[in-house]
Amino acid sequence: MKPGLNFPSIRKGGPAVNTRSPKEAIFFVLRLAGCLVLAVGAAALASARPASAVSRGTETCAACHEDIAAAFSRNPHAAAGEAACAACHAGGLKHAEEGGGPGVLAFKPSDHAMVKVRPCLECHADDQGRFSAGPHGRAALDCTSCHSVHAAKARPALLKEKPIKTCAACHQDVMAEFQLNERHRLREGILTCAACHDPHAPQSGSQALGGFKQELCLKCHADKGGPFLYEHGASRVEGCTVCHEPHGSVNRRLLTTQSVSNLCFGCHVLAPSWHGRFEAKSSNCTSCHATIHGSNLSRIFLR
Ligand code: HEC
Ligand code: HEC
Ligand code: HEC
Ligand code: HEC
Ligand code: HEC
Ligand code: HEC
Ligand code: HEC
Ligand code: HEC
Ligand code: HEC
Ligand code: HEC
Repeated sequence: MKPGLNFPSIRKGGPAVNTRSPKEAIFFVLRLAGCLVLAVGAAALASARPASAVSRGTETCAACHEDIAAAFSRNPHAAAGEAACAACHAGGLKHAEEGGGPGVLAFKPSDHAMVKVRPCLECHADDQGRFSAGPHGRAALDCTSCHSVHAAKARPALLKEKPIKTCAACHQDVMAEFQLNERHRLREGILTCAACHDPHAPQSGSQALGGFKQELCLKCHADKGGPFLYEHGASRVEGCTVCHEPHGSVNRRLLTTQSVSNLCFGCHVLAPSWHGRFEAKSSNCTSCHATIHGSNLSRIFLR
């Protein structure tokens, strides 16, 4: 096996249980085979050389890549010990033996995204395993678009930039929405993009990363989710974003329309006829239908 790669477990909150699907099992066997080849090769090399040259871990690499190795010693990946560099850099050992020869995986911009992502997913399959199926994976981003992997652990999650700046680098249009008067207080640091989006996860349907509708918003706005005796069918079917912009809006309360009556009449063509008087843009239906998110007292949300 790869020497030194005996992490207790990077699975959160539990012992190292092996719950492999058949597909994972096949990969595992393949990797095992790969490790054996590596180990046999390493043993052969070791017997052919004096002991001092045997160390082929970070120290071997440090001899020629001093800067990287120095920062790396305070990186969480250094916990893999001697074999840490080669855990990501396939072909690294041979490259070292040959005094800097070709064929080492270097995660170059020209490498295919799948090639760059695969070594990471060998260890990070639990939380990031579906990366390639998500919008970032499909757009051929790889992990290094956001993470800086050699760095001494300075920022949380080894991000290249501060959390919001990491996303802002590519999503300027979204950042502009957070400049509007009505907005979630991102700039003030009350929340980050990752509070609502998992940048590693696939989308389902029209929902943005991580799965939306009610649940996401209810993490912080639990009072809007009930359970109510009388639910408003609107958000049950469509989610909060049928009425609210999630990032920012020119309209009060992050509403999707300036006029509340337009918003309501968009779905309610059959309000009682005397409601005709409320068609003016300035009408606020919620001045009477005050418990618009749901109520235990009034079927029509009057209190
Ligand atoms: C967690 C995976 C990982 C580990 C562990 C790792 N690297 Fe890297 N390495 C990368 C990635 C990804 C790149 C591509 C450039 C980047 O994003 O920094 C890279 C690029 C490089 C490069 C070429 C580009 C440059 O910055 O000069 C060298 C040399 C290198 N690594 C050496 C090392 C050495 C030496 C170690 C051990 C001390 C090491 N790496 C450990 C992932 C890793
Ligand atoms: C005897 C010196 C030497 C040793 C030992 C060595 N390298 Fe290198 N390495 C080089 C040279 C020379 C280059 C090419 C010049 C450059 O770009 O820095 C290089 C380049 C690289 C690159 C970039 C390759 C590319 O195509 O851009 C990576 C990644 C790398 N080394 C990883 C490693 C790892 C991992 C180890 C330890 C297992 C290691 N090196 C050990 C000398 C060495
Ligand atoms: C040999 C297994 C292994 C490989 C390969 C590997 N990692 Fe890791 N990674 C770990 C371990 C173990 C940790 C520390 C986990 C912890 O502290 O929870 C870690 C930590 C991280 C963290 C920081 C997590 C945090 O909360 O600070 C990031 C980001 C990360 N890895 C990204 C990558 C990327 C990107 C690659 C591929 C270039 C990669 N890893 C390859 C095992 C690995
Ligand atoms: C689009 C940017 C982006 C890309 C691409 C990306 N990450 Fe992340 N990653 C993040 C952010 C942001 C966080 C912090 C999440 C948080 O604060 O909850 C993070 C957190 C992590 C963590 C820490 C543990 C966790 O789940 O919070 C690991 C490990 C990690 N990423 C690994 C990877 C790997 C492996 C890849 C490639 C398969 C990858 N990331 C690709 C942005 C990205
Ligand atoms: C290197 C550029 C880059 C970075 C950095 C980046 N993204 Fe993306 N993001 C993209 C691309 C490209 C797409 C797919 C094309 C598109 O929909 O715009 C995408 C798609 C998305 C989508 C889905 C969009 C949709 O229409 O469904 C969300 C949500 C998203 N990114 C959030 C984030 C978050 C959150 C971060 C920071 C953790 C981040 N991105 C960082 C480039 C990036
Ligand atoms: C309060 C939760 C929340 C926060 C914070 C948030 N988003 Fe979103 N985002 C959403 C929701 C919900 C959607 C889906 C909107 C829809 O389907 O109408 C979305 C959609 C998106 C989209 C695709 C559609 C579009 O508007 O372009 C991108 C890209 C995106 N978000 C990126 C980001 C970035 C980058 C940040 C941080 C700067 C961020 N989001 C912060 C909830 C949030
Ligand atoms: C991570 C926590 C968090 C999440 C998730 C979240 N919000 Fe918020 N939201 C807040 C906070 C905090 C405020 C109060 C901000 C302030 O006072 O400026 C707020 C305020 C609001 C407001 C009122 C704005 C105003 O003008 O008073 C609306 C509407 C809103 N959120 C809708 C949503 C929707 C819809 C979602 C899901 C897409 C969502 N929120 C997800 C934390 C969150
Ligand atoms: C049918 C449209 C509609 C839906 C669906 C909806 N809201 Fe609202 N929401 C409103 C209106 C209208 C207001 C403004 C009420 C007022 O002040 O007149 C509002 C106000 C708010 C406010 C700020 C004022 C307050 O009461 O705290 C928050 C926060 C909020 N909504 C969150 C949510 C969340 C979370 C969801 C999803 C569970 C959601 N809304 C679903 C229409 C809706
Ligand atoms: C996205 C569509 C949608 C929007 C926008 C919407 N509603 Fe509804 N509303 C519904 C649905 C669906 C029901 C449940 C109807 C049923 O069960 O027959 C409902 C139920 C109601 C009811 C209970 C009486 C009834 O007809 O069942 C009232 C009152 C009501 N809505 C008022 C409002 C007001 C006021 C607004 C604007 C703030 C609004 N609605 C916005 C879809 C919407
Ligand atoms: C002055 C208070 C008031 C305002 C403002 C108001 N409503 Fe009503 N609404 C009521 C009352 C009271 C009822 C129930 C009496 C009735 O059926 O005539 C009602 C009934 C309804 C119903 C039918 C519920 C049922 O019985 O199924 C709908 C839908 C509705 N309103 C939507 C709206 C919309 C949309 C607006 C804004 C354009 C609005 N209301 C503004 C007081 C108001």
